[in-house]
Amino acid sequence: MKLNIFANPNLLHEAAAQTIVRLLRQKPDAVLGLATGGTPVGIYEALTAAVRRREVSFARAASFNLDEYVGLPPDHPASYRFYMDQHLFRHIDIPPERTHIPDGCAADLERECERYDRLLQAAGRIDLMLLGLGHNGHIGFNEPGRALHSKTHVAVLHPQTREANARFFCTPEEVPTKAITMGLGSIFSARTILLVVKGNDKADIVHRALTGPITTECPASLLQLHPRLVVMLDEGAAARFK
Ligand code: F6R
Repeated sequence: MKLNIFANPNLLHEAAAQTIVRLLRQKPDAVLGLATGGTPVGIYEALTAAVRRREVSFARAASFNLDEYVGLPPDHPASYRFYMDQHLFRHIDIPPERTHIPDGCAADLERECERYDRLLQAAGRIDLMLLGLGHNGHIGFNEPGRALHSKTHVAVLHPQTREANARFFCTPEEVPTKAITMGLGSIFSARTILLVVKGNDKADIVHRALTGPITTECPASLLQLHPRLVVMLDEGAAARFK
């Protein structure tokens, strides 16, 4: 594991974005695994700026997002398709047909999960998987529990996850109770995993995930086993590492 601690969020966003820029320069047709939520917004801004400066092109890249809420159509402002379009895709030159996000409104969710896995398989290995971390140790929407899934599946969101994500909705009741998420097997098969964590409120969980026991009760703890894990923390999230 490579652990990098940054003095301020801007330095962290720039470093994470540059990791992706370097990858795309070496491998223009790289397959990227992408996350949503508060953490990557600054990284996507830095990537947008790099594309504007013509430092990098996404024209031959492909992307697979980790997850999507069940029941939210792509034009719902809290859907992850809407988020990705707003924060990244419409500002860069990635062909829309090479951006993949599960369809949370599919009539048959099981079949949608299978379709997503087939797409992932056809794309080959994910070159770089960008991950955030939930307060309860989730990655994607792989929530703590007695067992974890390897493949894409429908996950029931933990009350803590719904509470944390209520900030993106008008009322807490509107937060969907389920999501489609990539499984741990797909996340783990990525050549490189880039875990980005910010804020003092995540200091305990990121420390537990990276130094504590490996357990399904903290899905991110499995990342300790990945051969190429890069961790980027701001000062707040790194508080327990000092
Ligand atoms: C988002 C995702 C989640 C988030 C996590 C942290 O696609 O899969 O695992 O990365 O909930 O969210 P933020 O960054 O909002 O704290």
